[in-house]
Amino acid sequence: MTPALLLAFEDESALAAALARALDVPLAFIEQHRFPDGELRLRLPPQLPGEVLLLRGLYPPNDSLVELLIAAPAARQLGARTLALACPYLAYMRQDIAFAPGEAVSQRHVAALIGAAVDALVTVDPHLHRIASLDEVMPGRRTRAVSAAALLGQCAARHADDPLLLGPDEEALQWVAEAARQHALDHAVCRKRRLGDREVRIELPPVDLAGRTVVLMDDVASTGRTLVEAAAACFGAGAATVDVAVTHALFVDDAIGALHAAGVRHVWCSDTVPHPRAVVSVAPLIAGAVRSL
Ligand code: R5P
Repeated sequence: MTPALLLAFEDESALAAALARALDVPLAFIEQHRFPDGELRLRLPPQLPGEVLLLRGLYPPNDSLVELLIAAPAARQLGARTLALACPYLAYMRQDIAFAPGEAVSQRHVAALIGAAVDALVTVDPHLHRIASLDEVMPGRRTRAVSAAALLGQCAARHADDPLLLGPDEEALQWVAEAARQHALDHAVCRKRRLGDREVRIELPPVDLAGRTVVLMDDVASTGRTLVEAAAACFGAGAATVDVAVTHALFVDDAIGALHAAGVRHVWCSDTVPHPRAVVSVAPLIAGAVRSL
C-alpha cells in the first residue's frame, strides 16, 4: 500500500513526522477538543484521499481506543476508501484467555473492534502468547507485525560488553532469541509467576551470571516490577551490570525510579510509545510493513 496521506494525533507527533518522512507522504493532524464532561470532538481534514494511513498507538489504552474508533469511520466518511492503521503499541493483547470464569477475553474483543474499523493493521511486537498471529483475532484483515527486538539488541551490543540478553519470562523468548541471533549474543529466559499487579516472582535460568553484563529485554514494561525483580535476581547471582531494553515504554508511576533503585544502569526503549528514553525508532520498520500491505 502507498498511502496518499498519513493522519495522526498530536501526542504522537514525533513518530508521525518520522513515519511521514520514511513513507514520503504528507502528514495531517487530527484536532481534538475535550468537552468538560470528558467526551471528545475530533476534527479531520474535510476531504481525504482514497488511501489513508492512520497512526494511533493505544497508550493510554482507553482514551486512545476511543479516538481510534471515532477517527476511523470519520476518515471513511470523508473519503478514505482504504484505511490502514499503524498502531505501534497494540494494547489489550495480554488478556488472551479468561483467567477466571466470566472474565472477558479482551484481546479478542478489542481486536474485533479494530478489525471492523480498518482494512489493514501494522503493529510492533504485539504481545501474542497463546495465539500465533494477529490473523487469528482479526480474520479477513491484512496484518503485519514488525519487531523492535533487533534494534534494541543492536543498542545492547553497542553499549554493553558481550551482553547476555535475558528475557524475564518465557513469553520474551521470541524477542531475545531474535535479537541474539541478529547480533550473535547469548540469550536465555527466566520463569515468572505473577501474584498481583505489582508483585511477581522470578526464577533465573541455569546460566552462570557471575561477572556478566546482563541486558533484560521484554516487549513491555508497565509498573516495571517484572524487570525490578529480574534485576534483583541477576545481582543476587553475581551479575556485574544490568541494563534494560524494552519495546513499549509504558513505565507507569515510579517505574523508572524503581529500576534505578534496583541497580539498573541504562534503560533503552523504542518510540512505539512517546517516551524521553526512546533511543530507537520503529518508523522505518512500520513504513516497510505499510509498503508491503
Ligand atoms: C507480560 O508478560 C509482559 O511481557 C511484561 O513482562 C509485563 O507486562 C510487565 O509488566 P510490569 O512492568 O507491570 O511488571
